[in-house]
Amino acid sequence: MRVAGDKSISHRALMLAAATAGTSQISQSNRGEDVLATRDAIVALGAEVEDRGETVVVTGGKLHDPHGMIDARNSGTTARLLMGLCAGRGITARFDGDASLRRRPMERVARPLRALGAEIATNAGRLPASVVGIRSPNGGEFALEIASAQVKSAILLANLDARTTVRVTGDRHSRDHTERLLRRFGREIRFDGETIELEPGTLAPRDVRVPADLSGAAFFLAAAAITPGSDVLLREVGVNPTRTGVIDALRAMGADIDLSNERDLDGEPVADIRVRYRPLHSTTLDGDIIVRAIDEITILAVTAAHATGTTYIRDAADLRGKESDRLTTITETLRACGVAVTEQSDGLDITGGGAHAPERTLLTHADHRIAMAIAVLAAPTGPHEIDDEGCIAVSFPDFAPLWSGAQLSAR
Ligand code: S3P
Repeated sequence: MRVAGDKSISHRALMLAAATAGTSQISQSNRGEDVLATRDAIVALGAEVEDRGETVVVTGGKLHDPHGMIDARNSGTTARLLMGLCAGRGITARFDGDASLRRRPMERVARPLRALGAEIATNAGRLPASVVGIRSPNGGEFALEIASAQVKSAILLANLDARTTVRVTGDRHSRDHTERLLRRFGREIRFDGETIELEPGTLAPRDVRVPADLSGAAFFLAAAAITPGSDVLLREVGVNPTRTGVIDALRAMGADIDLSNERDLDGEPVADIRVRYRPLHSTTLDGDIIVRAIDEITILAVTAAHATGTTYIRDAADLRGKESDRLTTITETLRACGVAVTEQSDGLDITGGGAHAPERTLLTHADHRIAMAIAVLAAPTGPHEIDDEGCIAVSFPDFAPLWSGAQLSAR
């Protein structure tokens, strides 16, 4: 199967097309609620967007202040990256989001944007926030406080019109889709996983085909890896090395995963990924692999529940600031299914083997990745009931039909 288009790349392709004079076509874009929030936001900022089904056609370049507030809904990427774009294009805008996004930290982007000269006000570090942007920033050096792709991308988008070279230091191999897309849109940029250097220049419109989302594919990879008899092939999946921590982690647990047909797709590496069931064992996940698997830690925790031995996850405190506090929500979920879990301040200890169907409805906490992680948990042990499947539409609206079609469940 081909899972939904990559969410991170879709947001960025829409934003860069909006920032670029001329018309760009984006095909196989993710169609979840988060990316729709970005689409609506760039329209409010003056881009023309025509949805032709498989392809979204964006005409950009003439951005202006939006009339109302920009509603990023549940999407941290929409809020943080667009605050950056507005900050460097002289745009005045207000940003807000849903109850979950209002709990998430925004000073991590506000601080570097203030250093650029923009005025940023947050509500005690959270949304609602307002931006009064500047034009033609000076460029110069920015040191990242945390290895966050969203912060790095906000800085780069704020500096599209910078007059001198922009250097961003202190990255730790966080996802580099913004850098790759900037190159595709004609910009001179160097990046090595730690330092990024963007030269002054202009953007040229481009067409972009979006790879299938490894973060969506990961639910199928993990479910197949823990469900006896499984053999699943996922096509045209993004395998950018800054994202493949989940493949490395599953392999470290003994999973049988093959990559084939590896190729370049408009600047991003893609491959077909085949996974076949084989019994798994525990591992330790810490350090840089956490950044490269940041959205898959919940899935890996579920996988650990079906592996032998105790898996240790560390250096993952940032998960407490995602759509839910994912360390706590996945701990509650696993415990309700009989799994022995100890929650640490920055991670989890999970002892595999005991997972069974829960006696109560499991809570998703309106977090799409928790809802889909529960589907993985249920794959080898039979149906689990969740309180809300609606949240899955944030990133993967077609998840349910694809999941049923894959017949992974042992029902
Ligand atoms: C994302 C970066 C990550 C990730 C999020 C998407 C992006 O967040 O968790 O789902 O598209 O840049 P951080 O940059 O805060 O780690």
